[in-house]
Amino acid sequence: MRVLKTVAAMQLACKEIRAVTRSLGFVPTMGALHEGHLSLVRRARAECDSVVASIFVNPLQFGPTEDFDQYPRTFEADCAVLEGEGVEILFAPSVGEMYPSGAVTTVTVAGVGDRLDGASRPGHFTGVATVVAKLLHVVSADRAYFGKKDAAQLAVLRTMVRDLNFPVELVGCGIVRDGDGLALSSRNRYLSAVDRGRALVLRRVLLDMMWRISGGTWASDALYAAGLEILASEPHVRLDYLAIVDADTLLPVKEAKPGTLVAIAAYVGTTRLIDNFVVGSGDEL
Ligand code: PAJ
Repeated sequence: MRVLKTVAAMQLACKEIRAVTRSLGFVPTMGALHEGHLSLVRRARAECDSVVASIFVNPLQFGPTEDFDQYPRTFEADCAVLEGEGVEILFAPSVGEMYPSGAVTTVTVAGVGDRLDGASRPGHFTGVATVVAKLLHVVSADRAYFGKKDAAQLAVLRTMVRDLNFPVELVGCGIVRDGDGLALSSRNRYLSAVDRGRALVLRRVLLDMMWRISGGTWASDALYAAGLEILASEPHVRLDYLAIVDADTLLPVKEAKPGTLVAIAAYVGTTRLIDNFVVGSGDEL
């Protein structure tokens, strides 16, 4: 696996790859890789002739009081697993390479980008959309792979790709979970053993709502009430949002229906975790 650190070298390498292969798959990450990330790499590997990945902890998507400095960085181990998964090229730029002094242009996805995580983390999705727009220009991929765990991120990026005519197909990949059902996240490593147990309430809330929906309760108000009751059983977990929304616009709906996104974000200690399912999609919790 080649590890490239400059935009110029990466653009040249991708041009060379595209000259000899039919399809190029791209998996952008912030590193601290786990099986969730690797599921994207494996899907890209299965669907594309060549696969490139990136590791870049993007300062633009972290708020001033968020965990940019503490964010786990495990570069050597990440390189070893990506190489083992058959990734051809890893793009691992520095902050200065991605945002040279004088860089002032950002991408804001109005509306969608201000909802769910965008509401609780102002500016977050402008940071995400800007870095992904840049990465898609550096890696001219045919397909880019993203996890459905970050459902709002996926909605924001789909909107950006549609509105700005990026010549790339975004592929959403299912949520990978630990044995006890907790969605894998690079931030899970912040959790103490006690908090790790408490975090399972996020999934219990969603499971309860999923069961109620399959039992015929569609009204969002009734579903919210049931979900909040489950959440109250774990007083150490502080809700950020519980949302029943249109999966594309992220706007609230009065009634759930197939395709509706049911999403939760909550703080366990100081760690913010998210989880979700889409009604009728066959998503497993
Ligand atoms: P990061 O949190 O490193 O996640 C990289 C990709 O892995 C994202 O598409 C995310 O949705 C996916 N992912 C994370 N946990 C997952 C899980 N348990 N199951 C399935 N997929 C999972 O998301 C980002 O980085 C950044 O915002 C990025 C898109 C790279 C832009 O900086």
